[in-house]
Amino acid sequence: MYVPEKVVTNDDLAQLVDTNDEWIQKRVGIKERRIAVTETTADMGYEAAKAALDNAGISPDELDLILGATVSGDDISPSLACMVQNKLGATCLAYDVNAACSAFLFLLETAAGYFARGAKNVLVVGAERMSRIVDWSDRGTCVIFGDGAGACVLSAGDNYHDSIFTVRGGDDVIKIPAAPGKSPFWQGETPEPFVRMNGQETFKYAVTAIANDVNALLERNNLTLDDIRWIVPHQANYRIIESASKRGGIPMEKFYLNIDRFGNTSSASVPIALDELNRAGKLDRGDKIILTAFGGGLANAACLLTW
Ligand code: UT7
Repeated sequence: MYVPEKVVTNDDLAQLVDTNDEWIQKRVGIKERRIAVTETTADMGYEAAKAALDNAGISPDELDLILGATVSGDDISPSLACMVQNKLGATCLAYDVNAACSAFLFLLETAAGYFARGAKNVLVVGAERMSRIVDWSDRGTCVIFGDGAGACVLSAGDNYHDSIFTVRGGDDVIKIPAAPGKSPFWQGETPEPFVRMNGQETFKYAVTAIANDVNALLERNNLTLDDIRWIVPHQANYRIIESASKRGGIPMEKFYLNIDRFGNTSSASVPIALDELNRAGKLDRGDKIILTAFGGGLANAACLLTW
């Protein structure tokens, strides 16, 4: 993982919009988040990618593929993956997959296809500078996001057991409009290029997604929660996890949560959480874990794997 050094507290945000530390902690579970001051999205993705390669003991020329995910990339083109490839000095295929906050899980699924065709090593990277695309005058969104990146090196094996993907396409709940452009011919709307979200609709969607996906994975793999060391969810709101825990009958202790320190880093949130778990010695080889995510699209995903 890589996160910017700059810590922005809830009190800092209260200087910008009509909010307060108590509301944010109680309603979302965030105490602070990291915000980029000089790092680009590609810089953060590269730092996480480099750390993942070092940790795995794999050099860039051993990679068959780099997959990237971001909703807050520096450029539409080149993709995040292409920029990470360039910065690493790698020569392999590289491209992005756009699935907003669920994207890291979509990358794992895409990688599985390449492994089925004989790939040996795939680097997956989620990197976000959400601070660039939030409306800093909208207290309903600017308090929940943070910046950062997470990456994993995947190698061929049989540790990726099962996955579930759901898409309910539409822009009515979450939308991040692209740059408006300057066409002298365009007569349609030109929305501002910032995150727009119906928080409560997203909340409800997320709770159902997590509870259903986790239980479906357990059931169809003949597993119980006792077989699972951790459930690593997309970190969007502490109360979403609490509600999913109640709805799905999943004890809170099964979920790994770090939203209090990083906020919602979109596609980076699951790999950041994985890296923290790993480096803290809370994951052992052979542990079964479930990853679960939801977000713009709308899309949600979950997968079962052995660490
Ligand atoms: O990763 C992408 C997916 N995104 C998510 O998962 C986000 C899911 N949604 C949420 O996490 C929550 O819906 C939010 C955190 C976005 C909002 O929390 P909420 O409990 O759903 O609040 P609300 O929108 O129902 O608003 C409740 C009240 C309102 O005031 P009134 O109308 O009751 O007087 C809001 O204006 O809280 C007010 N409010 C705030 N107050 C202080 C909204 N944002 C803030 C704020 N500080 N930052």
